[in-house]
Amino acid sequence: MSKFKIAWLPGDGIGNDVLEATKIVLDKLNLDAEYIHGDIGWEFWCKEGDSFPQRTIDLLKNVDAALFGAITSKPVKDAEKELVPELQGKGLVYRSPIVRMRQMFNLYNNMRPCKAYDGNPLNYKENIDIVIFRENTEDLYSGVEFNPVPEDLQSLLTTISKNFAPFSNLKRDEYAISCKVNTKKGSEKIIRAGFEFAKNNNRKKVTIVHKANVVRATDGMFLETAKEIAKEYPEIIFDEANVDAITMWLLKNPYNYDVMIAPNLYGDIVSDLVAQLVGGLGFACSGNIGDNLAVFEPSHGSAPKYAGQYKVNPIATFLSAKMMLDWLDETEKAQKLEEAISLVIKEGKVRTYDMGGSSSTIDMANAVAEKL
Ligand code: NAI
Ligand code: MG
Repeated sequence: MSKFKIAWLPGDGIGNDVLEATKIVLDKLNLDAEYIHGDIGWEFWCKEGDSFPQRTIDLLKNVDAALFGAITSKPVKDAEKELVPELQGKGLVYRSPIVRMRQMFNLYNNMRPCKAYDGNPLNYKENIDIVIFRENTEDLYSGVEFNPVPEDLQSLLTTISKNFAPFSNLKRDEYAISCKVNTKKGSEKIIRAGFEFAKNNNRKKVTIVHKANVVRATDGMFLETAKEIAKEYPEIIFDEANVDAITMWLLKNPYNYDVMIAPNLYGDIVSDLVAQLVGGLGFACSGNIGDNLAVFEPSHGSAPKYAGQYKVNPIATFLSAKMMLDWLDETEKAQKLEEAISLVIKEGKVRTYDMGGSSSTIDMANAVAEKL
């Protein structure tokens, strides 16, 4: 029996290309693992009315970790039209399988390391090394949304909130509500994950991203919780800033940032910005980490126009696999993989189109495998 069971979830489009490339690299590393394919993505929505079938959920209950490519998502109204005829008109509602997976398995920590590898022609500046901890299950992504707004909710809001008065004369289909729901426990968990990482990896500073001066209830609680937890880590510099200001400061002086912790939406936005500082989507890796399961994936989507062309950069997925090896406590292999990736970037002989070259996804995999 293998040491590890790993769910293998290519998903849609280039998810297949980058996972195929990653298999080449993991095989060369001789990881003692059994890779078990799981169905997920658009194809299964269209055919079965479920982009995240029960058999894949069951698979995830029985593995040590998962590697995931990307999926295609479409707005609910467009999604309905693409169902096979026998499933149409049954009231099936499309929801992103990744968001469901994150919530179902409480993968509360979306960890996104962003490092400028030497010699990457896409680096904004050299030596950037920022790790973002984005809360992954709550906030504006909680899925509590209303359009149109139900009558009882409208009357409740009219009764209990003075701030609601300007909207109370609108018809129920003249406005929409998306709830930003943050829990104290969820905030604590992501903040602690960030501080623990900082402590265990000799990081100097933690920056909390928020908008507590305006969004007082939820972000106020997030910031206060962070201040409390920070007291347990006196050796780490505590820093906090408004999300709008931070996008500006990140461009002005990225060296000011080390570990960043944010509620879901701000973390999503800021991590795309930081990813661009270190090469963009071809380099942006991530882990969706819970207490018992972790799913690793490149941050990019399924890029349908490049699907099956073996053109896109698989490094984001290699770096996600490196994170997976760390999570599995295969730290030596993780380090070896990162060194091989950084050597290939530095040499600059193999470059995919985003890096200004014409090498294929598989060329990149072979180049990295050769260094292992
Ligand atoms: P995308 O990330 O798929 O691609 C945007 C563009 O970025 C591509 O056209 C390509 O030019 C570039 N790109 C992406 N990955 C790259 C790579 N590895 N190497 C080089 N260049 C790369 O985003 P888009 O086009 O907005 O969305 C396409 C589909 O993916 C949509 O259905 C969207 O909902 C979904 N999506 C899924 C995500 C996921 O699975 N986690 C995340 C983001 C979008
Ligand atoms: Mg995103």
